[in-house]
Amino acid sequence: MNPPTSGSPHLVLVGLMGTGKSTVGRRIAHKLGWEFLDTDDEINRLTGRTVRQIFETDGEEFFRQVEHDVLAAACQLTTPHVIAGAGGIILRPDNRQLLKNSRFVIWLNAPLPVLVERIGQRAAKGDGHRPLIDGNPAERLQKLYVERESLYRDVSSIEIDVEGLQVQDVIDKVLTETGLEANS
Ligand code: S3P
Repeated sequence: MNPPTSGSPHLVLVGLMGTGKSTVGRRIAHKLGWEFLDTDDEINRLTGRTVRQIFETDGEEFFRQVEHDVLAAACQLTTPHVIAGAGGIILRPDNRQLLKNSRFVIWLNAPLPVLVERIGQRAAKGDGHRPLIDGNPAERLQKLYVERESLYRDVSSIEIDVEGLQVQDVIDKVLTETGLEANS
């Protein structure tokens, strides 16, 4: 794990699908009085297409390029943001470098069965913005977990296991671990 570094002033949440990055991130941003940016939402806003549509028409590699462009642009912002980075944001080495240069990178982690329970039902129907786990979410999530665990660990300075925690508990842990003070 890396100590917090200087660079972009952001707090970035990383972790697999279903760990609560967007929900937690939005609420932390509100508490801190910071702006919030979700990379999938930003891709959606910039391209006018959903994540699923981009995967289906242009493929994953194109999606990863747009995702990189969004992260790189976000890291240029000088006002502090809470950023919910989508699950695959740690895949590209250049993204990992951008993350390591951010003030805080927090890995939201959870055991696989917890994630499958949270997002599996919808994904099994091929629904939502997670085409990588269509069909057999448990098996696919397991593969992603194995492939990515060391990458989440590599970029993050703080790890929070969200199993059994309510959103408020996760927020409290983030504030304690970062030493950031809520202003609401
Ligand atoms: C992905 C995670 C998704 C979305 C896309 C790919 C991944 O975002 O970007 O389906 O590779 O882990 P969430 O982590 O917000 O679900």
